[in-house]
Amino acid sequence: MELSKNMRNSIFLILLASLVLSSTRCKGGVTSTYRRRLEASVDMPLDSDVFRVPAGYNAPQQVHITQGDVDGNAVIVSWVTPDEPGSSVVLYGTSKHNLDKMKTGKHTQYKYYNYTSGFIHHCTIRHLKFDTKYYYAVGIGQTVRKFWFKTPPEVGPDVPYTFGIIGDLGQTYDSNTTLSHYESNPKAETVLYVGDLSYADNYPDHDNNRWDSWARFVERSTAYQPWIWAAGNHELDFEPSLGEKEPFKPFKHRYQTPYRASDSTGPFWYSVKRASAHIIVLSTYSAYGKYTPQYRWLEEELPKVNRSETPWLIVLVHSPWYNSNTLPLHGRRDHACHV
Ligand SMILES: [Fe+2]
Repeated sequence: MELSKNMRNSIFLILLASLVLSSTRCKGGVTSTYRRRLEASVDMPLDSDVFRVPAGYNAPQQVHITQGDVDGNAVIVSWVTPDEPGSSVVLYGTSKHNLDKMKTGKHTQYKYYNYTSGFIHHCTIRHLKFDTKYYYAVGIGQTVRKFWFKTPPEVGPDVPYTFGIIGDLGQTYDSNTTLSHYESNPKAETVLYVGDLSYADNYPDHDNNRWDSWARFVERSTAYQPWIWAAGNHELDFEPSLGEKEPFKPFKHRYQTPYRASDSTGPFWYSVKRASAHIIVLSTYSAYGKYTPQYRWLEEELPKVNRSETPWLIVLVHSPWYNSNTLPLHGRRDHACHV
């Protein structure tokens, strides 16, 4: 019997809670009484308000940002234009009324079975000041939409910073409750996302419209603070019966990572530093045996962790590489634990 998505979420939350409770070094204690209910809830219908397409011709949608370099001076801004490529320009600046800097990115597009994506833009803006609020605009020349984000403080051992952790979000009614709960915490500055984003692959033919709806749903957070992405099994979208033989195709086109900055050779394993944390992202669904590119990268990466600079080492992985779990989930024996 397969555990439901919500049960897995619950297991993850319980594990997280037990980690917090059993920690002797961290005296954080229980910071929230929020518990997502155990019963499975259904996906929100496509005409739900959370999936609403922004008004205006070719209006940018699905706006999201992530860290764009190792130290936090760069941000990757991504968005989708539905009707035509439009502009890949990001205007930005520290004054809301004077976006005096400009960077031009690139756009991409992909097909998945009978689905063709919109025009997916990615633009990396660099040389940002630490600990600074930036305003930015996309859709230049057509329907312009404006957002903002705050850069992290400079990396160092005594830099307080608050991360949220979310995984397996999906797009059910409970997903909306979970995201609202996260947003209700004014301290939360960056999301560590431990994989399984849209669950589009649960739909017939992996209906990629559900990738679009998910990104519109989370835009209310992802446009304003970085989400650090790790890949889960629901990002694989490997379906030879549909002629789809390239693993991670939708995820790779939609969600960029700054992997080259940490000398990684693949987009699903990389590292960033943020405030007082060194964050290593790994992929269980990419080869990780000895002598694989991922394994070799990790071997090179671990000695770079400098606890006097970043006392916190956080490793994001959707399911553990090595374990003794015997639950047969997704045909794998390693899926019931996420951290
Ligand atoms: Fe999963």
